[in-house]
Amino acid sequence: MKRLENKVIVLAGSGAIGGACAHRYANEGAAVLIGDMDAKAATSVVDEICAAGGSAVGVELDGTSEESIAAMVARAVSEFGGIDGLHANFASFADGSANVDLLDMELDVYDEEMRVDARGFLLVSRHAIPELRKRGGGSIVYMSSVAAYMPAPVRLAYSMAKSAILSLTRHVAGRFGPENIRANAIAPGLILTPRLEANLSEEQKQFFRQQSLFRDRLGRPEDVAAMASFLLSDDGAFVTGQVMCVDGGATCRP
Ligand SMILES: NC(=O)c1ccc[n+]([C@@H]2O[C@H](COP(=O)([O-])OP(=O)(O)OC[C@H]3O[C@@H](n4cnc5c(N)ncnc54)[C@H](O)[C@@H]3O)[C@@H](O)[C@H]2O)c1
Repeated sequence: MKRLENKVIVLAGSGAIGGACAHRYANEGAAVLIGDMDAKAATSVVDEICAAGGSAVGVELDGTSEESIAAMVARAVSEFGGIDGLHANFASFADGSANVDLLDMELDVYDEEMRVDARGFLLVSRHAIPELRKRGGGSIVYMSSVAAYMPAPVRLAYSMAKSAILSLTRHVAGRFGPENIRANAIAPGLILTPRLEANLSEEQKQFFRQQSLFRDRLGRPEDVAAMASFLLSDDGAFVTGQVMCVDGGATCRP
């Protein structure tokens, strides 16, 4: 059985992991609205889904702008009649190449990470929740990271933003649970995407392979898509307020 049949999922942020998630949602029977700052990235995934017989629409989204988020949500409602699930996936990697710690971090970089990753997810939630309510409930998946748990010596701004998302997850789960709205976060370990494939040395990849308890592979976008699809489906009906680490056991959190 397709477990997202008759559901409408809004995916805020396409890209490597988002693209895999969009395909998975469509394969599971969902209608998918994909928003991304890179409109072409969203459109190319939409074209692939539609060519395979699925249902998807792409829009340009600035996840830091309330106006843009409101337009995305309105488009999902006008196109598909409502929303059953939100996957907040977009991220800024503003501090990605800055190999600096707290003392040397540029405050502009910190502000940008918090503006996009933390404030942006807050804003998409504010616009999606009223629509989930109208359907009698729904499910939200927030993309965090194991960076929220690991004592990373660099990229503090990214880690702090990904930690803030965990508070948001628990707030939404606690406040809106009685209205049948679930909220969970996914904390992936290193997921090998084209961006990381291009930027990581073989030595770094080996380091991350060793962090996984399997030792022999890194995470794949499809690993995250499988978890997100479960959480958005009714199979996850009794799972809320959780952080699901998709990290090959690297963190082994209780
Ligand atoms: N790849 C990993 O190893 C990894 C690990 C842990 C967590 N994550 C998280 O997974 C998510 C997806 O990461 P990815 O590796 O697929 O990255 P990606 O760069 O392939 O995808 C991110 C997408 O977000 C979009 N985006 C950026 N800013 C935006 C904005 N303001 N509004 C709308 N769209 C915007 C980009 O255009 C891009 O398409 C992110 O939240 C990331 O932090 C990734």
